[in-house]
Amino acid sequence: MNSELRREYLAALGLACWTLRTRGALAPEPFAAPEPFAAPEPFADARAIATSQAREAGLDWPELRARVAACTRCGLSATRTQTVFGVGNLHADWLIVGEAPGAEEDRKGEPFVGRAGQLLNSMLHAVGLAREQVYIANVLKCRPPGNRDPSPTEAAECLPYLEQQIALLKPKIMLAVGRIAAQNLLHTDKTLGNLRQQVHRFGAASVPLVVTYHPAYLLRTPTEKRKAWEDLKFAREVCSRV
Ligand code: URA
Repeated sequence: MNSELRREYLAALGLACWTLRTRGALAPEPFAAPEPFAAPEPFADARAIATSQAREAGLDWPELRARVAACTRCGLSATRTQTVFGVGNLHADWLIVGEAPGAEEDRKGEPFVGRAGQLLNSMLHAVGLAREQVYIANVLKCRPPGNRDPSPTEAAECLPYLEQQIALLKPKIMLAVGRIAAQNLLHTDKTLGNLRQQVHRFGAASVPLVVTYHPAYLLRTPTEKRKAWEDLKFAREVCSRV
């Protein structure tokens, strides 16, 4: 990407200028103060996750997509317009995982198509990635009414679909965007400030997982965009080492 284009994407992120630092200078900055998020709900029973996961193992992409489209495992099937399976390059190195579809995603059947999605695209472009190069999915395939947080049961019922997507995709890196995605994927109640700037591991394949802020949060709190930018550079560095 030429430097003019990169400057445009960084401007979309609210960052005026960017100069490449030396490898040593990529060291993480001190953790942010814990954010004023609500206390997490307890996580769902591990047995439920294991049982459900086995049902998806071995499905190929079309079979998995059809299974998701017909899903009635939780109450969200009654209120959704459609399921939001995921989108992107089936050979992607990067898997971006958000929380759940919002109103616009529920209407269009594609993740991150609203304003937050536009900012996500800019964030990806800033590290040299087009939306078409990555794969984008959510912890939940259906929109929770009123955009409430996913319940532990909903997340436990839905996570096996994402796990099978990961088994098929074999990404080099996962980027969890936002506290809810990170906490559900890592089965933790730690704050996002405590989870970012570290390499976590996901699932049986130990896929490296990096955490950053949700673009919707960044739209509300643009002063945090610089930290998200550090996280994306950190993820790019991790990916380059896989
Ligand atoms: N927020 C998410 O976490 N996912 C989407 O798909 C859209 C908004």
